[in-house]
Amino acid sequence: MAGPGASDDRAQTPILRGAQVVLRPVADTDVPALEAILREPEVKRWWMRDTWDRVDEEGSTVFAIIVDGAVVGCIEYAEETDPDYRHAGIDLFVATQSQGRGIGTDALRVVLIYLIDELEHHRVIIDPSVENERAIHVYEKLGFRQVGVMRRYERGADGEWRDGLLMELLAEDLARA
Ligand SMILES: CC(C)(COP(=O)(O)OP(=O)(O)OC[C@H]1O[C@@H](n2cnc3c(N)ncnc32)[C@H](O)[C@@H]1OP(=O)(O)O)[C@@H](O)C(=O)NCCC(=O)NCCS
Repeated sequence: MAGPGASDDRAQTPILRGAQVVLRPVADTDVPALEAILREPEVKRWWMRDTWDRVDEEGSTVFAIIVDGAVVGCIEYAEETDPDYRHAGIDLFVATQSQGRGIGTDALRVVLIYLIDELEHHRVIIDPSVENERAIHVYEKLGFRQVGVMRRYERGADGEWRDGLLMELLAEDLARA
């Protein structure tokens, strides 16, 4: 069910609280709900890894996004630990019926604050599809800037390679409120 090393990572995963969301380690009992969310067309369209073992990989810290006690999505980060290139990368998805209510913005802001204030990262990246206008809007609202297009970066559900947008946020860019 969980990928190699995942249980070790879970033991290190903190509980984080935002205005609406609680982020906590994923429990095995959350996995069926998360896999059902991954199969929703509006999620699958933008998030290609549709089984849990491809989300919860070694080296990633994965949180369940909880709103009013229910699992409504997932947010994860991975760290580049080479001291000369240190940064973190983030990815997230929110269930279709919970989208558009500020949940993704809240979850992302909480993780960014944790990465910057607690783990002392100075730079965070994220890489939506160039066509994922909603995600790009959310990321820019929080302070990410567009770096450039990565051509034929990821393979979509239709099997075609498509362009990705590399975005980065420096610690001082974060819109905290
Ligand atoms: C992208 C995603 C994480 C955003 O989370 P969310 O909870 O839906 O987002 P929020 O409700 O916090 O904010 C949505 C914002 O996008 C805006 N928006 C909605 N549709 C949009 C569109 N087509 N183009 C531009 N902006 C759009 C909303 O107006 C809102 O902005 P505002 O707060 O300035 O009004 C979520 O929609 C999702 O999981 N989508 C499917 C999977 C995915 O794309 N994951 C990201 C992979 S990089």
